[in-house]
Amino acid sequence: MRIVSGIQPTGNLHLGNYLGAIRNWVKMQDEVAQTGGECFFFLADLHAISMPHDPAELSANTRTMAAALLACGVDTTKSVLFNQARVPAHAELQWLLNGTARMGWLNRMTQFKDKSGKNREGASVALFTYPVLQAADVLLYQATHVPVGDDQKQHLELARDIAQKFNNDFCEEEAPVFTLPEPFIPPEAARIMSLRDGTAKMSKSDPSEMSRVNLSDDADTVMKKIKKAKTDPEPLPGEEKGLEGRAEALNLVSIFGALTGKSVADVLSEYGGQGFGAFKPALGELLVETLRPISERFNALRVDTPELDRQLATGAAKARDAASATLASTYDALGLLR
Ligand code: TYM
Repeated sequence: MRIVSGIQPTGNLHLGNYLGAIRNWVKMQDEVAQTGGECFFFLADLHAISMPHDPAELSANTRTMAAALLACGVDTTKSVLFNQARVPAHAELQWLLNGTARMGWLNRMTQFKDKSGKNREGASVALFTYPVLQAADVLLYQATHVPVGDDQKQHLELARDIAQKFNNDFCEEEAPVFTLPEPFIPPEAARIMSLRDGTAKMSKSDPSEMSRVNLSDDADTVMKKIKKAKTDPEPLPGEEKGLEGRAEALNLVSIFGALTGKSVADVLSEYGGQGFGAFKPALGELLVETLRPISERFNALRVDTPELDRQLATGAAKARDAASATLASTYDALGLLR
């Protein structure tokens, strides 16, 4: 088993990232360590330049996000942790795969449509070819499983399409260059929504800080954000179907379930009939308790820049090593002399 996943260092690590992805990275890291598999986790700093950015902020955020991942339990004695920019094979493989990816496939990517908005002509080329770099990220390491939230599903389907077409076009049937990666999307918490709008996903780029819980938020801030979270005036229903059309209520109940390992139905059997005046403080306290050890570790780790750089450089050396065979096979398969 090869587990590969990444996160953009473009803001704070929030509850959606944690419940949708990072928590599973840590679980898989521990399971995989016992079965002889390997995990590669990275800061997608190359992806981060697809949107307008401030260079000093990007370097600072890359280190801060690394500290946040370590605080969540990514363990560099079990997993390889690095930033993409230290492993040139990612950008190289992207170029090689650009010959296989089709314009039509990229034109269908919803993230490009969302992020470029009405300004398609002004969007960077990197934003358009972003999914090809993401395919390179996972194919480079022969990933078998990629733990992500639901919003990354389409990008992983594209990675599979690229791998399949490359194998068909350039490889003998019995010797494919690329493994087809399987997305691992958690059945619960695959899409945590904004605290201000139950129809928009919780996101690092939402201008409202009140829309998300950051893993670095202190207890008072967490309680305030949950108490101010948008809801409706009705009490919680006793059954799941009573949450239909109540996106904000469903989101808060789902977060509660994801934190306690309970289903939405179980949470409702406990809190059905109660109003948000009772439910929100319970959820807030649960969150504070979950986040306390993470934010304590994060605050201790984030200040040690030399140590973070050392850890990322060590991880990158391992990643470069692991990537070299697939990169060489790709050049060879394409007939490129080196
Ligand atoms: P990013 O940085 O937006 O998010 C990191 C991870 O968090 C998940 N996630 C969520 N899960 C549930 N609810 C939410 N509201 C929520 N918001 C984010 C994402 O699905 C993701 O798993 N393109 C990727 C980074 C990337 C990558 C890769 C991922 C680059 N290369 C290769 C996997 C494999 C991204 O921008 O994730």
